[in-house]
Amino acid sequence: MPKTALVTGASTGIGRELCKLLARDGYEIFLAARDAGRLAEVAAELLTIGAGAARVIPVDLARKDGPAQLAAALSGTVPDVLINNAGFGLLGDFSAGDLPRQLDMIQVNVTSLVELTGLLLPAMVARSSGRILNVASTASFQPGPGMAIYYATKAFVLSFTEAIAEENRRKGVSVTALCPGPTDTEFQGRAGMLETPLFSGALKIMSAAEVAEIGYRAMLAGKVLSIAGLRNRLGMEGLRLAPRSWVRRIVYGLHRA
Ligand SMILES: NC(=O)c1ccc[n+]([C@@H]2O[C@H](COP(=O)([O-])OP(=O)(O)OC[C@H]3O[C@@H](n4cnc5c(N)ncnc54)[C@H](OP(=O)(O)O)[C@@H]3O)[C@@H](O)[C@H]2O)c1
Repeated sequence: MPKTALVTGASTGIGRELCKLLARDGYEIFLAARDAGRLAEVAAELLTIGAGAARVIPVDLARKDGPAQLAAALSGTVPDVLINNAGFGLLGDFSAGDLPRQLDMIQVNVTSLVELTGLLLPAMVARSSGRILNVASTASFQPGPGMAIYYATKAFVLSFTEAIAEENRRKGVSVTALCPGPTDTEFQGRAGMLETPLFSGALKIMSAAEVAEIGYRAMLAGKVLSIAGLRNRLGMEGLRLAPRSWVRRIVYGLHRA
């Protein structure tokens, strides 16, 4: 039986690269995101590189009924692999921000991820097999002045992932948090961050393919935490030693356009 996978945020960026890795391993892949046209293009590409099947599920995960709609579109399939990758950020002080968009961010980055996991994990546990990969961030490790909600959502994803990884350690289901640092995708443009020091040359920017490969391998190995790239790993170690007041100021500086 071919293995099955569900990937959210499959239309571009890290999600698209993760789909390619699944395709090369022959998976039947369900691709979810809002843009049906782009998903269809990715699906066609996946079939040429080895995917057993590629099915497109257009869905808006900012909508409260998004995760249930997505789960229903699986028609009873409990995938072998669930990759919760869809997400977005927004640059700007919280007080000056667009509150509905900030709340949408919580819905996409946190609530949908939790709901989708909650809808599929019990069946994975019941059959004693499954792998879940949640895309968190190096933002998960500190507060993010200038992007307060985004950083808080990613802290949630990391905490949630580690907790359920431990709960399911002996139940045949692995849960992995992938923490990329700055990565070359559409994320920074959509978040309004192109002119910030974070993305304009101060830090090394990894490719989406590199990041996906690291996350994919970590998921298959059943690792709980994978920080993408040596520099990011060293950076996160350094954070533990630095006073939190310094960290807050430095992060705010990185978000100034
Ligand atoms: N790039 C970075 O520097 C970086 C660093 C750390 C973590 N991350 C995380 O990596 C993950 C993937 O991001 P990326 O860098 O690959 O960014 P990206 O190129 O902007 O891709 C984001 C994906 O999420 C989907 N998405 C966004 N809003 C959605 C919604 N409301 N409903 C359904 N799907 C939605 C997008 O598809 P549609 O627009 O078609 O819906 C797209 O497929 C995110 O969770 C992000 O937070 C990124």
